[in-house]
Formats: sequence, C-alpha cells, structure tokens
Amino acid sequence: MSSRPSPGSPDASAPRDPEASSYRPFLEGEGVVLRGVTLSDVTDDYCRWLNDPDVSQYLETRFFPQSRESIEGYVNALTASRDSVFLAIVAKKSGTHIGNIKIGPINWIHRFADISLVLGDKANWGKGYGADAIRTMTRYAFSRLNLHRLQAHIYAANVGSEKAFLKVGYRQEGTFRQKRFHEGGYGDEKYFAILRAEWDDAMTGRGRTVR
Ligand SMILES: CC(C)(COP(=O)(O)OP(=O)(O)OC[C@H]1O[C@@H](n2cnc3c(N)ncnc32)[C@H](O)[C@@H]1OP(=O)(O)O)[C@@H](O)C(=O)NCCC(=O)NCCS
Repeated sequence: MSSRPSPGSPDASAPRDPEASSYRPFLEGEGVVLRGVTLSDVTDDYCRWLNDPDVSQYLETRFFPQSRESIEGYVNALTASRDSVFLAIVAKKSGTHIGNIKIGPINWIHRFADISLVLGDKANWGKGYGADAIRTMTRYAFSRLNLHRLQAHIYAANVGSEKAFLKVGYRQEGTFRQKRFHEGGYGDEKYFAILRAEWDDAMTGRGRTVR
C-alpha cells in the first residue's frame, strides 16, 4: 500500500507480530502465507483496495460503495461460516497483508466450490503472488478439505486473472455470453475449473505442467 495509515488505525504496512495467534500462517506457499482474516485487517488500506476502480473493475463489490462497516460485516459473515474459507494473503518478504482469497460457497455434497481472490495494491500485481495464493488454496481444498473440483468465474477481459488460473493448471470449460455488465456494455464471462485428479496428476508429473 502506498498510503499512510490514519492516526489511530493499525499500520497495515507494518509486519504483524508473529506471536499473535490470529496472524499465524494457516497455509504456506512459495512467496506468500495465507492466514485467517480478522477485523483488525479491515484498515483504511483495505477500504481503499475495494474502492479503487482499477482493483475492483472485475469484482462484484464495485457496484456499491464499500465502507469500513460493510467490509467488517462481510469479514464477520465469512469467518463465521463453515461453507467458505476466507484467508488473508501475506507476502512473506514484507509480512504485509496484500490481499484476500476465498473458496466458497462450498457444496459439501457434490464437493465443489468457487475460488476468487483480490490483491489490493496494484504494485503487487504481476509478481507471482496471485498464482502462488491460488496454488496454495487449491492444494488445501483437495488435500485437506477433500473437495473434488474448484471453479473460477472470470470476466473475459480480465487477462491477469485468466493467466494466473491457467498457470496453476485450471482449464477453461466454457464461456457465458454477455453475462457481465462492464464499462457500459455486456461482456462475456469465462468459466475455469480444475478437478482433483488433474491436480494430483500435475503434482506427480503425469498431467499438464503446473508452474
Ligand atoms: C487477477 C490477480 C489476482 C492476478 O494476480 P497477480 O499476482 O497479478 O498474477 P501473477 O503475478 O501470479 O501472474 C500470473 C500470470 O499472469 C500475468 N499477468 C498478470 N496480470 C496481467 C495483466 N494485467 N495482463 C496480462 N498478463 C498479466 C503474469 O505476467 C503471469 O504470467 P507469466 O507467468 O507468464 O509471467 C490480480 O491482478 C488482482 O487481484 N486483480 C484485481 C482483482 C481481480 O481481478 N481478481 C480476480 C477476480 S476472478
């Protein structure tokens, strides 16, 4: 984040106290750790992420103003739910909270879930954090939650997101025509998914290469 925290607010750019239990890593990737999101993560910077038109241009949050209160309500609802897993993405190098990733809602009968993420500071885009977080969450969803399939709905214009999911081994399954209202017109939505068997094959070297 380039902005400074307002007086009295937690400094989102400062490394978190590793001893604080809520900030202990839950999952570990190459350059990121994923941990639970807490209300203390809802800083001015977090509010700015969601109100930045570049960051939110492909997110459904953009249609309404995002206030600290509405974001806190969202965090509370997700962390209380057992049908979603909502984690903070923390860059290992800096210890900074750089975004969030979610799987959910989880369908526990058919064992599939949606996956989505946001990196709030544009300075962190294109550095591999997105693919790293997706890979780490995908591994967790298959190996620990015993899910069978993960799927991502991506605006066709969102090249960065598409490339990040492809890099992890997701495949495009289809296109929904003119499903999303974006910049004054209707745009397509692409549908990507990965099956557990594809992930396992990639991990054992039998399937498509996962970078
Ligand atoms: C989409 C998003 C998660 C991608 O994360 P990221 O960390 O920037 O992606 P990565 O660095 O892991 O990049 C993966 C690949 O995509 C490429 N890429 C990233 N952004 C790109 C862009 N805007 N245009 C073209 N390629 C892009 C990278 O160069 C990399 O390719 P490579 O492996 O060949 O070098 C991130 O840009 C973001 O949070 N955007 C705003 C919110 C959003 O759109 N979320 C997705 C909703 S489904």
